[in-house]
Amino acid sequence: MNSAEIRQKFLDFFASKQHQIVPSAPIVVKDDPTLMFINSGMAPFKDYFLGNKPAPYKRVTDTQKCLRVSGKHNDLEEVGYDTYHHTMFEMLGNWSFGDYFKKDALEWSWELLTEVYKLPKDRLYVSVFQGDDSENLPMDQDAFSIWKSMIAEDRILMGSKKDNFWEMGDTGPCGPCSEIHIDLRSEEERAQVDGKELVNNDHPQVVEIWNNVFMEFNRLADGSLVKLPAQHVDTGMGFERLCMAIQGKRSNYDTDVFQPLIQFVAQEAGVKYGQDEKTDIAIRVISDHIRAIAFTIADGQLPSNNKAGYVIRRILRRAVRYGFTFLNFKKPFLHKLAVVLANQMAHVFPELKQQLGFVQRVIEEEENAFLRTLDNGLKRLDALENSFKENNNIIDGKTAFELYDTFGFPLDLTALIAREKGLQVDEAGFSKEMEQQKSRSRNASATEQSDWVILQPDVVNEFIGYDCDTTDTHIVRYRQVKAKNKSEYHLVLDKTPFYAESGGQVGDTGFLISDTEQVEVLDTKKENDLILHITAKLPQNVEAGFRAEIAAERRNYIRKNHSATHLLHAALRTVLGEHVQQRGSLVNEKLLRFDFSHFAKIEDAELRQIEHIVNERVRQAIPLDERRNVPIDEAKNMGATALFGEKYGDFVRVITFGSDYSVELCGGTHVMNTGHIGYFKIVSESSVAAGVRRIEAFTATAAEEYMQQQLNELNAVREVLNTQSNVSGAVQKMQDDLKGLQKQLEAFELKQLTGMKDELAQKAVQVGGVNLIAQRVVLNSADYMKKLAFDMRQVVDNLVLILATEIDGKPQIAVMLSDNLVQEKNLNASTLVRELAKEIKGGGGGQPFYATAGGKDAAGLDAVTAKAPELVKSMING
Ligand code: SER
Repeated sequence: MNSAEIRQKFLDFFASKQHQIVPSAPIVVKDDPTLMFINSGMAPFKDYFLGNKPAPYKRVTDTQKCLRVSGKHNDLEEVGYDTYHHTMFEMLGNWSFGDYFKKDALEWSWELLTEVYKLPKDRLYVSVFQGDDSENLPMDQDAFSIWKSMIAEDRILMGSKKDNFWEMGDTGPCGPCSEIHIDLRSEEERAQVDGKELVNNDHPQVVEIWNNVFMEFNRLADGSLVKLPAQHVDTGMGFERLCMAIQGKRSNYDTDVFQPLIQFVAQEAGVKYGQDEKTDIAIRVISDHIRAIAFTIADGQLPSNNKAGYVIRRILRRAVRYGFTFLNFKKPFLHKLAVVLANQMAHVFPELKQQLGFVQRVIEEEENAFLRTLDNGLKRLDALENSFKENNNIIDGKTAFELYDTFGFPLDLTALIAREKGLQVDEAGFSKEMEQQKSRSRNASATEQSDWVILQPDVVNEFIGYDCDTTDTHIVRYRQVKAKNKSEYHLVLDKTPFYAESGGQVGDTGFLISDTEQVEVLDTKKENDLILHITAKLPQNVEAGFRAEIAAERRNYIRKNHSATHLLHAALRTVLGEHVQQRGSLVNEKLLRFDFSHFAKIEDAELRQIEHIVNERVRQAIPLDERRNVPIDEAKNMGATALFGEKYGDFVRVITFGSDYSVELCGGTHVMNTGHIGYFKIVSESSVAAGVRRIEAFTATAAEEYMQQQLNELNAVREVLNTQSNVSGAVQKMQDDLKGLQKQLEAFELKQLTGMKDELAQKAVQVGGVNLIAQRVVLNSADYMKKLAFDMRQVVDNLVLILATEIDGKPQIAVMLSDNLVQEKNLNASTLVRELAKEIKGGGGGQPFYATAGGKDAAGLDAVTAKAPELVKSMING
């Protein structure tokens, strides 16, 4: 069975048990501050388990793209070294939301594995939660009994809380679980050691393939467990491991999921996979990481310097580094691999193939940047080589950490290069630096979140802000969040007009008003489907009735900017082409910012055309056509633009401004007709990343003010030029005149310099056998002073020249000596100038024959020339 068949059989099996097949959610999480990436199949369904939102189906099945590289579930460092952990993997799952429980879940998993996939029963083991006294949790007797009816008792293993109590994170839904493990070793190996001994013991051929979690509890921030409103099932089967088991392989990488990638990398590197452990690890790292990199970018996450973007950057750099070090890839190579992956996955996750050009460009740009960084790091290491040698051939911890932190060199790479140079790395010193940095960032970002105080259980918060700006409401739950130097409250209301930040549109601000008090809402954010009103204080009476009022004027400007964003999006596609995809946006009361894929700078003429189209639509005053709860397929048939990386439900909201112009899936707030936008003005166009351009624009009053400001400036220029028409012609003429004058001035000054040279030569006096000229002169620049000094050298022998002048109000001295005086009389221009500079409260230096000094006190310039004869005499004699 190939991997595509294995995946399909899973989905078909659960569909036959009345499960709804749903698509994978995007791998990058939005609207959940506790999670950056989907780390398990259940994460997109968190709200259903917690009872925050009713589930649209009681039974669901899917294959979910997951990433385990940060937070509680992090496998990154193992990846490549072993044969069964991955950064990105697919989790096959089936879910019951308050429907079936342990019996059906376990029986179906057994049926699927042994009857559909025909895995041999004598190679399977199952585990059951043994209970935990400290949490007052009993052994899972039900699961044990169910298994006993299907599998020999000695194959049912008891597991501790660590292995058999599954939790999504530090808080959230959790419960006892029952795992299924498979022993893939050869008969000989199995005869020697009982498979049972190897379960949960990190053996690469005795691995967990499926986990059945029985969600019953919610873990609170104070560590306690409370019962969930209903009992659910959450199962997760590692797809790549399942393929290994069914295809009879000893490694996930030997299955058809990874082989196309492995073979491509090996061929590019000119090596064979399976012959050398070092290159094998590198090939595995790359074949694994490209999946995480390509799919997260396709789901809308660009590599960057913070949060989710930084995680992607780190994974990409890990891949580049392994290629660079072990496979001799000195040029970008990962982007080529994206093609292989896109073709391979097109039938199940088409989003990568659909955006392949863009994804490749982003990857290649990142690779190039990191290869440059690596190169700089290598140069830094080379430059410091001698100092390491003086330090007993040790690279100190601080430098190793700097290489890691600034140049992206992990310790093992530094150690490898060090070995080649006969050096060693102070690893303990490195760890100390690392620990210090970690604790610095822990302190900076630590937040403490109290558990929700529930005032009205089972109330689903309702957003009514599309229709009204105010409403009567109640607080249904609240909590306190403490961060460094700051404490805030999150309030959830039963009904609210406050729009929570999402889809680029900022959250509303406003007030909650009761009979006795008024509490300001500073911002509104989302946590999955909860709308959090953020306040600095808690109302004294949280149970009071409140009037919720948004800052309506601010929202009006936000509406204009949001609708203008839609008009801009459509205009961009008209002018630049259908390849334009939204990559991000910001809509607030001041401006709109729109990021989109496009590969070249947008020409001025194109920008004007885009602007013109948008303003035409504004003038047409096209009425808003807003439709809520449209079935997703119907919306797509309407030609609605969906965004990659957005999670859409079965029913969506469609915003149309002219059915032949702009139709978008959108949850934001909009103007009633485009005329309300007033006027649209693009104020900047720039690049934000490889293949991503950014346009910023103003609407309405902001656009008017911007244009007025531009006009004011132009008028001010007109006034200065004293002209009403052809301003640019007048400025051009001024520039031309100025250039002519500058040329004349230079010619004049050169002429003056020649005159000055002759005059100075007359002033030479004999002092101690040298021709001393010490004079104050009038010069316009340091360059002229230098020229004059060097010219004088040509005309007077045995010369000690001292020039004292003022340039731009600052005193300057130059000393020039004939070469023979430096050699024969032991004179030195630097020493001389430093001594003279004391008179102008300054200092300087230079070469033995020419030196200059600057100072603070121009009044001392006369003293410089006065002092010169004595000083020169004493130096000659000395
Ligand atoms: N949530 C469980 C896991 O991730 C089962 O899906 O292992």
